[in-house]
Amino acid sequence: MESTSPVPMVGFGTWKMENTDNLYKAVVELGYRHILTGHYYENEDMIGQALTKIFEETDIKREDLFISYKLWGTQMKDVEGALTNCLEKFNIDYLDLYMVHFPVAYELDEESNPKQVKIPIHKVWENMELMVEKGLTKQIGVSNFNVQSLLDMMTYAKIIPQFNEIELHPYLTQEAMLRFLKKYKITPIGYCALGRSDPEKGINCEETITEIATKYGKTNAQIAMRWGIQRGYPVISKSSNFERLKLNIDVFDFELTDEEMKTISSLNKNERVVRGENLENCLYDEIFA
Ligand SMILES: NC(=O)c1ccc[n+]([C@@H]2O[C@H](COP(=O)([O-])OP(=O)(O)OC[C@H]3O[C@@H](n4cnc5c(N)ncnc54)[C@H](OP(=O)(O)O)[C@@H]3O)[C@@H](O)[C@H]2O)c1
Repeated sequence: MESTSPVPMVGFGTWKMENTDNLYKAVVELGYRHILTGHYYENEDMIGQALTKIFEETDIKREDLFISYKLWGTQMKDVEGALTNCLEKFNIDYLDLYMVHFPVAYELDEESNPKQVKIPIHKVWENMELMVEKGLTKQIGVSNFNVQSLLDMMTYAKIIPQFNEIELHPYLTQEAMLRFLKKYKITPIGYCALGRSDPEKGINCEETITEIATKYGKTNAQIAMRWGIQRGYPVISKSSNFERLKLNIDVFDFELTDEEMKTISSLNKNERVVRGENLENCLYDEIFA
């Protein structure tokens, strides 16, 4: 097995994926090749069904896809068990990328309230490294890790995280984080590329973006995707609508000028969509501080 595989620049986000159909069609008909998943999304069975159908009914092979999966906070005790369970459900025998979803380990008490547990990330990371050694994943990375957490990892990691999957869109440009990741050769993956905008709100209605979109005959969402790609990282969006999925990957036939790139970046408001609410009682917003 090769040690790395290239990440497609547009990925299919599976959080809140409603059925197998969209994923199947996105891969087979639209050419999506990165399927970004995680235990937290609670849809491993659905993804497994779509993958099985893809491999059985088309010429697309496992090695044509880039499949990433994230370890959730309640799984930190058993990094290998979480991975083998995922592989079984997905009906595949390796991941392209296995990531730690948040730098927080916790468990649920009898009333299902989260309770932080003392599992240091360096222990978790040791086991992540073991997954590469065992050939269960090609690469390992993290998600939602801030600079301080990453710097700490540099002091012990045998494998420096190869990726940090973070929120990136025109309202949250994270310039300093991107500079840091570049310096340490960690590839960013930009999630919520559309700022989780409702089709009728936010980035989709941002006038500055609409002006640029009109020039290219594109939509605001396509401009946001393209802006991320031209900043140099793979982008992830999600849509439950086939036509919008089609638009979101149709972003390779035009190029934004440097001026337009700057204009879009100037929309930054340091506005986060993902604030770690589900880690309540554990860490919360401060993770990103
Ligand atoms: N690592 C992490 O902690 C983390 C956190 C959050 C998200 N993610 C990943 O990133 C993926 C995307 O994030 P997200 O779904 O939160 O946000 P997003 O992709 O930025 O935005 C999704 C919203 O945009 C709409 N939309 C999609 N395409 C559109 C288009 N072409 N025009 C207009 N509206 C459009 C969708 O509506 P419709 O569905 O109706 O089209 C939905 O309301 C997730 O699926 C997940 O895999 C990772």
